[in-house]
Amino acid sequence: MKKVTISTLLKMKQEKQLITALTAYDASFAKLFDEQGIDLLLIGDSLGMVLRGDDDTLSVTIENMAYHTRSVRQGVERAFVVADMPFMSYSTPEQAYLNAAELMRAGASMVKVEGGAWLLETIKGLQERSVPVCGHLGLTPQSVHVFGGFKVQGRDDLQAENILEQAKQLEQAGIQLLVLECIPTDLAEQISLALSIPVIGIGAGAKTDGQILVMHDMFGISANYMPKFSKNYLSQTGDIRKAVQQYIQEVQEGEFPSAEHSFN
Ligand code: KIV
Ligand code: NA
Repeated sequence: MKKVTISTLLKMKQEKQLITALTAYDASFAKLFDEQGIDLLLIGDSLGMVLRGDDDTLSVTIENMAYHTRSVRQGVERAFVVADMPFMSYSTPEQAYLNAAELMRAGASMVKVEGGAWLLETIKGLQERSVPVCGHLGLTPQSVHVFGGFKVQGRDDLQAENILEQAKQLEQAGIQLLVLECIPTDLAEQISLALSIPVIGIGAGAKTDGQILVMHDMFGISANYMPKFSKNYLSQTGDIRKAVQQYIQEVQEGEFPSAEHSFN
């Protein structure tokens, strides 16, 4: 079985093959998703919400992330593994280097950071120090208290222009992958076309280079609530493996997300 690398994902974008991704937090689910052929697994700081039951992701620590990254790594043979840098673990470049090293040592192949222009130096520094970086723009959950709730971003022209501009700057600084969360379909399409790196969407419509969902949302078992952009694949199939297979198939065929799971 050939391992998925960042080169694989880049080639998929170039060949217009859609990338499938899920979050994972433990070895058992990671193995199951990997066996079904998922391309990418993210150890998301969403674990604060779906594992611990918090209202946001802010209490998650680098130790929490390293523990779950190691767990996921144990279950994976093929998928590309990305780990989130949690809240305030990358507020300065120096801090980011030390904390990113923890996640890389735990088995991540890339780390993800939330934000735009203020991160350019950090991203460049990480990349120069051999840590591949994934960006995250739009609804960045670590900023929930700045946004005043989990709200769709980039709805007016000025905001949209700003997100597009930051995406270009992040690519310039060296990110090799970008997650766009909860932005209008048109904006996500525009960004995906403007960048040469793969762009993975969540609540960002069907025109990105791939899709990611929080695994608990995809199974319809999240502790708190079910976001509009997510879909319950378990209730449709009645079987965990079949649910994953159907999610993968619908993403690959461009059927998910449909308009009802997108924003305009
Ligand atoms: O933490 C997470 O699960 C994420 C995804 C929603 C992209 O960042
Ligand atoms: Na996250």
